[in-house]
Amino acid sequence: MKKITLIKGFKDILPDDSPAWRRIESIARDVFACFGFREIRVPIMEKTELFKRSIGETTDIVEKEMYTFRDRDDELLTLRPEATASVIRAYIEHNMLSENPIAKLYTIGPMFRRERPQKGRFRQFHQLDAEVFGDEQPQTDAEVIFMLFHFLHRAGLTQLAVEINSLGCKACRPKFSEAVVAYLKDVQNALCPDCQRRMNTNPLRVFDCKVENCGSIIAKAPQILAYLCGSCQNHFTAVKSYLADLKVPCSVNPMMVRGLDYYTRTAFEVKSGALGAQNAVAGGGRYDGLVSFLGGPEVTGIGFAVGLERLLASLPQAEQAKYQTDIFIAALGDRAQKTGFSLTNELRRAGISAETDYGNKSLKSQMKRADKLNSSFTLILGDKEIDEKQAQLRNMKTKDQQALSLDNLQEKLISIILNSNECRDG
Ligand code: HAM
Repeated sequence: MKKITLIKGFKDILPDDSPAWRRIESIARDVFACFGFREIRVPIMEKTELFKRSIGETTDIVEKEMYTFRDRDDELLTLRPEATASVIRAYIEHNMLSENPIAKLYTIGPMFRRERPQKGRFRQFHQLDAEVFGDEQPQTDAEVIFMLFHFLHRAGLTQLAVEINSLGCKACRPKFSEAVVAYLKDVQNALCPDCQRRMNTNPLRVFDCKVENCGSIIAKAPQILAYLCGSCQNHFTAVKSYLADLKVPCSVNPMMVRGLDYYTRTAFEVKSGALGAQNAVAGGGRYDGLVSFLGGPEVTGIGFAVGLERLLASLPQAEQAKYQTDIFIAALGDRAQKTGFSLTNELRRAGISAETDYGNKSLKSQMKRADKLNSSFTLILGDKEIDEKQAQLRNMKTKDQQALSLDNLQEKLISIILNSNECRDG
């Protein structure tokens, strides 16, 4: 039979890799809790309209990368390409503003974008996403960036660069867009067909173009910072000053516009020196008009998402935690197997990691399996031991062996194992 393989761009997270994922998620939960964030879990599928309206009809994500299908009742559904839109939908739908004027939420999970797979770019990837609703003060922008910086630092990412920019607001951005279009008109024949189209549909998207020639043209384009209105300028100056107070090393990148249409004012990205071309580990920004644009109240918002695959790939390889078993029950013979079956499962119920073998294999092969499982102890239990009412317990490290009477065997084993774990953990 032909093998059925993974979907291109999708990836299994294998048991050896899971501890590193759990570690990152647990650091995130600790750090985010200190900053007052609470977890929300939203579905991985939403109505297509939600992403079209929030991310923008003419962005690469919506135009080319969404996994969209028509459901049996004719409704268009999409596997989420990001979490912000879903978190806002839930915020509106559950009327969270009525509970608290400021909501701080985070979520962790898979996202789906049908991009060309390459190192650091997958079609299913995972994000750790944090959002704050209802606080437009520049302190909040700085605090959110500080939280991201602090989390990445605690996760072990040392070679990181934080870049920030301001994308203006609905008062000043149109003037900037006009200036970009005017500049591009003079050079349009040199632009790639995509950028020629973007120039008319969504001029800011030309800043994301990866075509080399477009890059050199766009490098000379007008820059948003020169077009900010007074209020956006003051906001950006304050954000930078609060970031300096918090000692977050960052640089202004006036060319950074981010690939999603919803951003206003502060935008930021964190890049890792340890990655190749796909070096953005995290990105985010403010999106002040988006909640109302999605049918909610006039509430401001800011947030970010960390790409977990990229974060893990940037970290120094941690020593892999070895799979550990407390005890292996080597049962030999029918009666011993019956006792071993109950004993193994009762030990597990008591919180001990226990394994056994139901195949009635030879002692040699069972001892081999105990070694493979990295077991601290092996209990040797044959029909002969059952007749003599005692079993042999072998310490797999020291190779010491002791006879244990079958009376209260379970309690004795628990006490020996817990004692030895205490010694091991110091
Ligand atoms: P984004 O910049 O599109 O922003 O994605 C955030 C991060 O997700 C990226 O920096 C990257 O690490 C990771 N990422 C994106 N695409 C892929 C991929 N194909 N393969 C692997 N990793 C990927 C957002 O998604 C916004 N929702 C962030 C945000 C939250 N803004 C405000 N709140």
